Amino acid sequence: MKHVLVLTLSLNLMSASFVMAEGGDWSLETLGEALFFDTDLSANGTLACASCHDPERAFTDPRETEVGRAVSLGDDDISLGDRNAPTLTYAALTPDFRRTESGNYEGGFFHDGRAASLEEQAAGPPLNPIEMAMPDRASIVDRLQRNLDYVAAFTTLFDPDIWRDPDAAFDAMTQAIAAFERTDVFAPFDSKYDRFLKGEIRLSAQEERGRMLFFDPDRTNCSLCHQAQLRADDRRETFTNYGYHNIGTPVNVAVREATGQPDNYVDRGLLEHPDVDHPAQAGRFKVPTLRNVAVTGPYMHNGVFEDLETVVRFYLKYTSFEKHRQINPATGIRWRIPEVPKTLAVSELIKGEDLSDTDVDSLVAFMRTLTDARYEHLLSD
Ligand code: HEC
Ligand code: HEC
Repeated sequence: MKHVLVLTLSLNLMSASFVMAEGGDWSLETLGEALFFDTDLSANGTLACASCHDPERAFTDPRETEVGRAVSLGDDDISLGDRNAPTLTYAALTPDFRRTESGNYEGGFFHDGRAASLEEQAAGPPLNPIEMAMPDRASIVDRLQRNLDYVAAFTTLFDPDIWRDPDAAFDAMTQAIAAFERTDVFAPFDSKYDRFLKGEIRLSAQEERGRMLFFDPDRTNCSLCHQAQLRADDRRETFTNYGYHNIGTPVNVAVREATGQPDNYVDRGLLEHPDVDHPAQAGRFKVPTLRNVAVTGPYMHNGVFEDLETVVRFYLKYTSFEKHRQINPATGIRWRIPEVPKTLAVSELIKGEDLSDTDVDSLVAFMRTLTDARYEHLLSD
């Protein structure tokens, strides 16, 4: 019998109330779901995947820290990361990391693609000292074995001898988590935009203006990077081509101060990937999906921008000759310089027109339509 995954959105991590397999009837997906919410996979027992990827927030981190929600707090209750936790909605549609014929890179997981697959990604957080902070694979497998439900599930789903080989058991855990992340729970395609494509509803005049603008290559460059499918009305559009670009995101100064990184520290983006060594790749980050973007702020790999309107206006600094477009309206001072100035995607970024304030509002209105039905209540006015 196949289990129906129901994600209870009023989730309390301590008494996780999602649907669990009963009577030993486990699937890889239900096992993965249980693991995803399990704080026992962290050293002090405070963090689960779901802590930083909360299903109520489109699988981003809702927890406030001293730097707001820009980055995540680790299991030690002290450590802060340097990057923003991305949404896991639609992440499973990401192609595996690869080098393209033109010598560029695409796909993969994390902002720098350093995990080739969801399985490889899931192996990271439990062992990351500033995240779940477990010392090694064997200690994680030890925790798994203390849970009789897991013992039953692993024995049913994998080789009963699996516990003898901690690496095999650890890999099995990552397979289950990845299987859960591939379920439709993460990719419902039921946003207002999807309902519009199916002809069920109409967009408002403003949303429609935003949609036209977004896909108009003469007026904006958005679709150059945030469009995967060839046709603008493709229902499986994830709003990223999975490429890597340097759009000039500035340092998040507050985060760097809080994490105490040395002044000369640079997040080199794609160049942090172990298989990438050409300096031309520095400062590039994976183009993120725009699905659910209106409810997953703050934005960019380091959470430097608080709202969507600021992000849209940030792009105008490249397409406008107006002096006031060089000012960040959220801070009242000039946009800070890119963290990595040398590799800026200039030819892409200067494509498109300066937009009016009405245009900016329309683009934001359009991006709000990309919110899955179950998160629409999070949209603020
Ligand atoms: C302490 C917070 C934290 C925890 C716990 C955590 N993550 Fe993440 N997650 C992040 C951050 C931050 C990133 C981006 C890191 C980077 O790019 O270097 C990320 C990235 C990801 C990505 C990549 C998404 C993409 O589109 O590239 C996936 C998938 C993911 N996490 C799944 C998981 C799973 C599964 C677990 C549990 C095993 C987990 N995370 C635990 C914070 C966390
Ligand atoms: C040259 C490629 C490129 C173009 C053109 C482009 N983007 Fe992006 N976009 C990116 C990349 C790369 C990031 C992530 C940057 C980072 O993490 O520092 C991003 C981030 C974003 C984000 C933040 C998403 C998040 O979850 O943090 C939004 C919103 C966005 N872009 C919207 C747009 C809009 C609207 C346009 C058109 C006006 C546009 N982009 C044009 C590549 C591009």
